Amino acid sequence: MTYADRIAGLKSSAIREILKVTSNPEIISFAGGLPAPELFPLNELADVAQKVFSKFESAVLQYSVTEGIGPLREKIARSLDPDGDALGVDNILITQGSQQGLDLVSKLFIDKGTVVLTENPSYLGALQSFLLFQAEIRPVASDEDGIVLEKLAEVCGRGPAALLYAMPNFQNPTGISIARERRPGLLQIVRQHDVMVVEDDPYGELIFEGERPPSLLALGGTRNVIRLGSFSKTIAPGLRIAYVAADEEIIHKLAVIKQGTDLQTNTFGQYLVNEYLENGRHEEHLRLLRKTYGFRRDCMIEAMQRHFPSSVWRNRPSGGMFLWVRLPEGRDARDLLARCLERKVAFVPGQEFFPDGSGSNTIRLNYSNASPGNIEVGIRRMGEAMKEMGM
Ligand SMILES: Cc1ncc(COP(=O)(O)O)c(C=O)c1O
Repeated sequence: MTYADRIAGLKSSAIREILKVTSNPEIISFAGGLPAPELFPLNELADVAQKVFSKFESAVLQYSVTEGIGPLREKIARSLDPDGDALGVDNILITQGSQQGLDLVSKLFIDKGTVVLTENPSYLGALQSFLLFQAEIRPVASDEDGIVLEKLAEVCGRGPAALLYAMPNFQNPTGISIARERRPGLLQIVRQHDVMVVEDDPYGELIFEGERPPSLLALGGTRNVIRLGSFSKTIAPGLRIAYVAADEEIIHKLAVIKQGTDLQTNTFGQYLVNEYLENGRHEEHLRLLRKTYGFRRDCMIEAMQRHFPSSVWRNRPSGGMFLWVRLPEGRDARDLLARCLERKVAFVPGQEFFPDGSGSNTIRLNYSNASPGNIEVGIRRMGEAMKEMGM
């Protein structure tokens, strides 16, 4: 076979391999990044589906415009910019999940060797998308308050970069957010160096405590920021409904690229989400998600306090779906995984998420998809394996 050159660097992710093991129902898995299925608004969506069919009839099954249906785009624009000063429908493109937003943005901005700056660690799906288009990834050091601004300025100073990919809230894999105080400085640096920010924010609504800081788009405007949002974590990922919010010219170009990819996002899903948002119960649903996931995070932290050795560090994100763990220096999380799999517990070793290959002693744990009972048992077994390894 003669494949395209860009395929040469393509690797299957180790996470996919771990997730194969976790399809065994006996395994307690903190490995995936799945929302809790028992919280999907099934009955509401069934009612809304009926309503949508009787109200719009065959239109919900017909081809539709590439940019997405007007009422949904309008709602998203208003949710991002209530006064309507900065964003209108022409600033919104509906996509098949945010993952498609990442693919379209990659197609628009990345040539072979184009420099893309990322957090370190970063979201694997984004890295895969950038690498498929042969980007050169330059990771920027991050701490508990997100990207370190001095490091960002230093990396920007090394030469031109097209994009900075950043997750502002409860990022995947660490659960860390970019601190409110850092956001204006971050935008100032990218402005100076002519770098476009891709703000990917699927977890921002899942906030358990405190106040959500303004988005990078709200602070920087469409000249500096392309924002990706998704209903995957707040309604259901199987619907595949998400959006890009950006400058009109960028939206137009992304829409032309999308035509060549899939013509449009599925019409029925868009009508369904639009009508669901209109029925006014979304806020109530978000409150339920925040309460349940916040409780599961607390269960996981309390179990760690009881079962993990004191040499193991963990953080306490104030939202999202993930917790981050650091084993003592020199330990390899993959060795721990092997012992944990014997005990029927799975997690993702963090190294996968580091573009610079560091982080071998780190671990990503998902708490949204595990019951409090399984969290207790799984964390206890992990703690036993850690102690067995002499941590
Ligand atoms: C940071 C981030 N971006 C994007 C996605 C893709 O989400 P979707 O395509 O379902 O909107 C995910 C999924 O886990 C994610 O964690």
